[in-house]
Amino acid sequence: MNPSDLIYPVFIKEGLSGRQAISSLPGQFRHGLDAVANLAKRLREKKISKVLLFGIPDSKDEAASAASNPAGIVQNSIRALKERQIEVYADVCLCQYTPHGQCRILENGVIDDEKSLRAISEIAGSYAEAGADYVAPSACLDAQVAAIRHRFDDAGFTRTRIMSYSAKFRSSFYGPFRNAVESNYSGGLRDYQLPPSDRGLALARIRKDVEEGADAVIVKPALPYLDIIMKAKKEVDVPVCAFQVSGEFTMLKSLNDPLVFNEAFSSMKAAGADLIISYNALK
Ligand code: PBG
Ligand code: ZN
Repeated sequence: MNPSDLIYPVFIKEGLSGRQAISSLPGQFRHGLDAVANLAKRLREKKISKVLLFGIPDSKDEAASAASNPAGIVQNSIRALKERQIEVYADVCLCQYTPHGQCRILENGVIDDEKSLRAISEIAGSYAEAGADYVAPSACLDAQVAAIRHRFDDAGFTRTRIMSYSAKFRSSFYGPFRNAVESNYSGGLRDYQLPPSDRGLALARIRKDVEEGADAVIVKPALPYLDIIMKAKKEVDVPVCAFQVSGEFTMLKSLNDPLVFNEAFSSMKAAGADLIISYNALK
């Protein structure tokens, strides 16, 4: 496995000093901003040059306003990592920033797509301004790629690219992630994620995101959806990225055999994945 094909997910928690173990993800940590320098050093030692950032804010509100704060935890982390020559992919979503943990803005308990779209493009713009190499919108919101593309064009953010979570399935494999990001999400009402039974819809989303201007697409989870990776690779010209999500990681980790990760990665590669996001990228 070429380390330059791997992206390591990093959790950064506002107000934290040092690192804090994540109980749901063995061997993984939430990092304080002051732990970024040491993390960058370890990444360099292992020749891992790419990270996917997830922010954990101090405060949540209905407008997810902490996410677009120019001095927010993700923006500060982007600057700190860029100073250390790390390639930064920034996850763009609302679920860590809202009290209910939905990936959307709710208005009287009902999802408001317009407001959600505006918030998402504003957050993406703010990450671009902080110097992110890629933004990775993960809210499954229709036309979110087009909205971000417009925002970047308007603001002249020509450097930052868009890697969309185009095929994000409604999956039980995301379970351990919620504890990792201290999300309040308590189940239900996530019908905006793709049904595992509709493989055609996933392919349509991938094509549409590329038409809207995505520079790369993500399929997640990875192993249960190798067929989608394979078809995506045939259908679109942009890089295809497989996300080995939290539940896949913990399952494989429980086998206590590092070879199992090589096996999983080589399956994703064989299916056509150009890039792999994995918690096992940094050991
Ligand atoms: C946030 C987001 C999630 C993941 C990546 N971005 C959680 C979700 O959508 O429920 C999953 C990551 C993982 O399980 O490792 N939208
Ligand atoms: Zn989300």
